[in-house]
Parts: sequence; C-alpha cells; structure tokens
Amino acid sequence: MRFDMSDPDERATGLMMAAGALRRGELVALPTETVYGLGADATNARAVAAIFAAKGRPSFNPLIIHVPDLAAARQVAEFDQKSLRLAERFWPGPLTLVLRKAKGSQVAELATAGLDTVAVRIPSHPIALDLLKAFGRPVAAPSANLSGRVSPTSADHVVADLAGSAAVILDGGPAAVGVESTIVAASGGPAFLLRPGGVAREDIEAAIGEKLGDLKGDADAPAAPGMLASHYAPRASVRLNAAEVMPGEALLAFGKTMPPGAEKAAATINLSASGDLTEAAAALFGALRALDAEASAIAVMPIPDSGLGEAINDRLRRAAAPRPSA
Ligand code: TXA
Ligand code: MG
Repeated sequence: MRFDMSDPDERATGLMMAAGALRRGELVALPTETVYGLGADATNARAVAAIFAAKGRPSFNPLIIHVPDLAAARQVAEFDQKSLRLAERFWPGPLTLVLRKAKGSQVAELATAGLDTVAVRIPSHPIALDLLKAFGRPVAAPSANLSGRVSPTSADHVVADLAGSAAVILDGGPAAVGVESTIVAASGGPAFLLRPGGVAREDIEAAIGEKLGDLKGDADAPAAPGMLASHYAPRASVRLNAAEVMPGEALLAFGKTMPPGAEKAAATINLSASGDLTEAAAALFGALRALDAEASAIAVMPIPDSGLGEAINDRLRRAAAPRPSA
C-alpha cells in the first residue's frame, strides 16, 4: 500500500498503517532526508531478516538503527563526550554514529551482524520522525534498494526495486539530501570516517576539533561492511572523469561547460548546471537510474572532491568499479 504523504488525510492513515505493519514484523519503506529506507522493527530478528531477504543483502552487513530522539538513542548505544557533541550538533540529520552497544539493548543481533558496536541515527525528515515516535521502538533501515543497486531517492525508485516486499510505502517526495548519511565511528579514542555522506567531513572535524581518521577499508576488509567496492552499481558501465563523450554513451554532466561529443550523447542529465554540489548530491542516484535506462555506458564529467563532492565521487567510484562476477 502506497500513501501520498503530502495529503493530510493520507498522511495520518499512512502513519497508522506503517506503525501497525512494523508492529506485525512487516517491512515499511519510509522517506528520510538522505535516501528512502526499508524499515523493520529492530528488536524483532525475523523482521530484520526479512530486510536481508528483500534486499538480497549479504547477511554480514549490519544495519543502521533509526530513533526519534537522544533518549531513545541512549537505549541503543553508549555515548561519551565526543559522540554526544556530534549528536547535539548534527541530529536530527544525515549523520550516523557507530558506537558501543548499550547494555540491555533490545536491538536484534542480526541487525548489528553480531558486532559489539551499533550504527545509530536520528533522521530529520518529519515523516520518518513521526513514524519513529508513533511506533515507539527503534527501526532498522538500510536504503530501500536491492543490494548492490543505486539507492532510492523517490518512492518510485522504491517501487521499482521492492514493490513486493514493503507492506507500506510512504511517499514523502524526493529526498532532499540524496546521498546516504555520513558514518563516523566514535566508540572511544580517535573518531574515524567510515563512509562519506550528507554531512561534510570538514563540518564534523570542526565540531569535534580533530581530524577524522580514514577507515574506508577496501573490498576485502571493508571498515563499514557495506562499503563493498562495487556497491552502487547501475547495469550500464560507468566511465569517470570523462573529457569527451564516446559514441553510444550517455552523459552525466556537472557544471555549464559540456565536453566534446556531448551533443551526440545517448542522453544527458546535468547534476547541477550551476556547479552546486548539494544540488548534485540530491540528483545523483535518480540520474544514474535514468541514464541506466537509456544507454549501456555512462560517461561522467569530473566533479570537485570538496564538501559533498567527496560522497558523490565515492558513490561514483563504486558505480564504476569492476562488478562481482556472481
Ligand atoms: O542515509 C542513510 O544512512 C540510509 C537511510 C535509510 O538512513 N541508510 C543506509 O543504510 O544507507 P545502509 O544499510 O544502506 O548502509 C549502512 C552502512 C553499511 O555500509 C554498514 O556496513 C554500515 O552502515 N554499518 C552498520 N553498522 C555498522 C557497524 N556497527 N560498524 C561499521 N559499519 C556499520
Ligand atoms: Mg545502501
């Protein structure tokens, strides 16, 4: 069942149906400010398992636990001074903290893949917050796409990948941030960046007055186990830093100066004609999906690596990485 949350009546019914579905151990697709999530009751291992099944996700991959406020976060994870500062500065918002699990946490082991740490965040999307409050328990939610596919930034993307597995889909319009949350490990000692995302590294470093270590890992030993090299893979091949467009290629453009051959591109989407990285991040996954439908090869123009550009380029490198043969 899909609900248009811009309609006040549907919004109320949608929230009620979604909370009911979560209580029954069913899956709910919910909008967040980063990307759409496929949510389940984090305290119900069977419900969590249904997420892995629906996504076809490798089961070693732990999930992010979503909560509506700091009190709820403290039932799930242990905070120290540094993680509290990060929480106060960036929550609700696109930051995920990897912390030590709280004693007596009700979160199912499967949701954390048996680790003694847990990834937790308070999303800022009002529909996500309302659902978390109405449900009253933590919600485990990965991005609502099939494993290895592009993350969904609209309800239509969710329907394309997971229509059969979500009992309720809450359509909250396009995702405002458009890339996943930044993941920071802050479980004592120095803090590490596990995944660049919706909060820029520079802003996190400014908040805690220290440089973030890099623990992005590699394909064999990913630091955030979800960060497999070929994770954000469209079906088309992806060619980065393209200085020209080859015959048959679609063009993922950035900025106002088009490269040679652009006029013959199979299709063109400009992430931001004005060169705005926030606008580009919000458009990224939708553009990859749309170009994927138009051509079997995508040429990507260079994108600056500052601010949200780091997350954009990280996702694009993964989209361009050699695909697993399986
Ligand atoms: O913006 C987002 O973060 C979205 C929305 C729905 O909240 N969620 C999302 O979840 O991107 P997902 O499951 O696609 O990515 C979660 C990442 C994975 O790379 C996973 O390996 C990592 O978080 N992760 C989860 N728990 C972890 C832990 N205890 N230690 C290290 N990495 C962890
Ligand atoms: Mg994902």
